[in-house]
Amino acid sequence: MMDVQTCIRTRRSVRKFTSEPVSRALLEQVVELAAYAPSWKNTQISRYIAIESPKEQELIAKEYCLPSANNPAIIQNAPLLVAQTFIKNRCGFERDGSYTTDREEGWQYYDCGIAAQTFCLAAHALGLGTVIMGVFDRKRLQEYLQIPEDQELMALIAVGHPDPTPLTAPKRKDVQTLLSYR
Ligand SMILES: Cc1cc2nc3c(=O)[nH]c(=O)nc-3n(C[C@H](O)[C@H](O)[C@H](O)COP(=O)(O)O)c2cc1C
Repeated sequence: MMDVQTCIRTRRSVRKFTSEPVSRALLEQVVELAAYAPSWKNTQISRYIAIESPKEQELIAKEYCLPSANNPAIIQNAPLLVAQTFIKNRCGFERDGSYTTDREEGWQYYDCGIAAQTFCLAAHALGLGTVIMGVFDRKRLQEYLQIPEDQELMALIAVGHPDPTPLTAPKRKDVQTLLSYR
């Protein structure tokens, strides 16, 4: 089993996959692990919609992506596309519907980020590659996917067995840049 340090260090955004399908059993293992992500008052707002149809992926790639980024090619090449959504108005909200802090809507996105990274690390530990994608026509895609009223589309995650060509990590900032003491 992969240790946590290795998992964190060796996870890459994978944009090329083999044609091997991702079984539902494996995807379910990933989601079961992603459920352990911390969340605001344990609200667990993140949801995952598996899009397994190549035809639907082609349509999403052609009609709902934006010109920048290589996302159409990634989406068409991936054996599986996961749409991450979240249940609105829980994370960062009081029971009466008011915001708990001045971050207002922001904590929902924060929790989705934690959940998405937990999903990607879990997938990596289980031998899958992933890439989180934020560049797409969110409002129109949300409509096409018929996301329920109480949810919002957050991100797309392409999932598959990674192409064997090794990927080098994009350069990281050093600790001196990232950390300060007061
Ligand atoms: C919120 C978010 C949105 C992203 N959107 C895209 C995207 O639309 N297309 C893409 O190819 N990669 C996207 N990425 C992947 C980043 O480019 C990648 O994480 C970064 O370059 C570092 O590389 P690594 O993940 O291999 O360490 C996104 C990552 C995050 C966290």
